[in-house]
Amino acid sequence: MQTSTIYDCMLLTLPKNHQLNGNLTSITNSQEVPFDIKRIYYLYDVPGGNSRGGHAHKDLYQIMIALSGSFSVTLDDGKLKRNFLLNQPYQGLLIPPGLWRDLDNFSSGSICMVLASDVYDENDYFRDYEKFIDWKSKK
Ligand code: TYD
Repeated sequence: MQTSTIYDCMLLTLPKNHQLNGNLTSITNSQEVPFDIKRIYYLYDVPGGNSRGGHAHKDLYQIMIALSGSFSVTLDDGKLKRNFLLNQPYQGLLIPPGLWRDLDNFSSGSICMVLASDVYDENDYFRDYEKFIDWKSKK
């Protein structure tokens, strides 16, 4: 099991191919991102005022991108919290394992794409904040 502090997460600036007829960003395994991408998922149609997240991962690395619109991400290592506003499709928030995350303030029509280092595995989740804090305190 992995653990991290909020200082281990960072906002990556992804390459942007800017042209008069629009922009393009591409992401290649282990180049712009520090892990092999095994899964992509995205959140969309989040009703106004709703939150997502509310969990931590034990081993999973993720990069979160606001493909469209904006939302905020609060990361919590059990001692300190750090808040990010994601609102640019060329920025990716690198979230290493062992950080609790809450996502809220989704703008209308926003899309949150997540690049993940592994397949979906419910056993990789902490969904109980007290259990997460207990685990962090033993690290
Ligand atoms: P969850 O990870 O809690 O979503 P979020 O943190 O973005 O709010 O997952 C919500 C539900 O979707 C949960 O029942 C598990 C399921 N799910 C999958 O089936 N596959 C996946 O890749 C993910 C991320 C979730």
